[in-house]
Amino acid sequence: MALDPRGSADDVRVSREDLQGYVREIFSAAGCGEREAGLIAEHLVLANLLGHDSHGVSLIKLYVRMVREGKINLDQRVSQVMDAGSLLTLDASRGFGQALGHEAMQIGIERARQQGSVILALRNSHHLARIGHWAEMCAEAGLVSIHFVNVLHAVPTVAPYAGSDARLNTNPFAIGVPRADKPPMILDFATSRVAQGKMRIAMNRGVQAPEGYLLDASGQPSVDPSVVYRSPLGALLPFGEHKGAGLGFMCDMLAGALSGAGTLHEGHMEQDVYINNMLSIIIDPQRLGGMENWCSEVEAGAAYVKASPPRAGMGPVLVPGELEQSVAQQRALDGIPVDRETWQSILDAAQQVGVGLPSFV
Ligand SMILES: NC(=O)c1ccc[n+]([C@@H]2O[C@H](COP(=O)([O-])OP(=O)(O)OC[C@H]3O[C@@H](n4cnc5c(N)ncnc54)[C@H](O)[C@@H]3O)[C@@H](O)[C@H]2O)c1
Repeated sequence: MALDPRGSADDVRVSREDLQGYVREIFSAAGCGEREAGLIAEHLVLANLLGHDSHGVSLIKLYVRMVREGKINLDQRVSQVMDAGSLLTLDASRGFGQALGHEAMQIGIERARQQGSVILALRNSHHLARIGHWAEMCAEAGLVSIHFVNVLHAVPTVAPYAGSDARLNTNPFAIGVPRADKPPMILDFATSRVAQGKMRIAMNRGVQAPEGYLLDASGQPSVDPSVVYRSPLGALLPFGEHKGAGLGFMCDMLAGALSGAGTLHEGHMEQDVYINNMLSIIIDPQRLGGMENWCSEVEAGAAYVKASPPRAGMGPVLVPGELEQSVAQQRALDGIPVDRETWQSILDAAQQVGVGLPSFV
């Protein structure tokens, strides 16, 4: 949905470096070790830089509350549940997704380099946040990756196709494709019309949702973003009708059932906990058809698609990840816009863990 990536005149504007430093300070004070606090800060602020404000610093308040309530285990390392060479299951012990996801991807990248590919299931992680982050890590290592994610223990937020109440979650899906001399192509989305957090940002900004995104608690269409935050809860609709709903359902099967963590149903609902499970397939293109052929075919296919003349009022035609790259260039120049409500929530979270006001605003 069209939330302006430039933000509004009322926003607080912060450089990536300043914001990352302050976020690191908050999570250090909340009890995270230096490595973990650094990875959380890097992940959240990069999400903002790329324009995904729903998965950036607006999550700090929630994360700090969950740390204080003992719902996230600090400074965990992955443990190996099963290792069959090309198949690997890791458990994250309900630790911070930003740190455990990073460690799991490092292991997956090493294994894919050794063997050509790996199927890696990471289970029992706290929020893995922006899933494209993990596809980017693989792409930076020259590897193609596909990631299916489910959300457990949180209450359902997405209605199945033709359903009138929430029975699924926003189960995201991502594919990363490395390129020779350009940023990778990253397809990364929630299987709902948009990520739930975009409704939180819309609420903060006083913006209505477009038609066709939401149902209210009685199963009727709504444009009020608060229906997925305030009781009685409504639902987000899936993207692409039966196709998006089907992909979201299969994310639950692949990330939930194959990882051994479980799928979403009454047996896996705990109030106020947010667990992600992820099934990642990581492939070395060098070992499948050679890097030269891979790079030339990727570029030829991308150029052909991008040459489509834009329809009236639309365009330019972009490949996955291109929009985020242009938002990042703009935000690197102008600063990252943070809406006032989110900014206040960050200051409140900082105060709760004994961190003072930042010096840069
Ligand atoms: N951890 C979790 O549980 C969880 C759950 C849901 C979503 N998420 C994350 O939320 C974030 C946002 O998801 P979303 O569904 O709101 O994303 P979105 O609707 O903004 O879609 C983003 C994808 O669409 C592409 N795209 C956007 N505009 C385009 C255009 N004009 N032309 C071509 N491609 C275009 C982007 O490059 C990107 O790949 C994602 O990073 C996702 O991983 C996480």
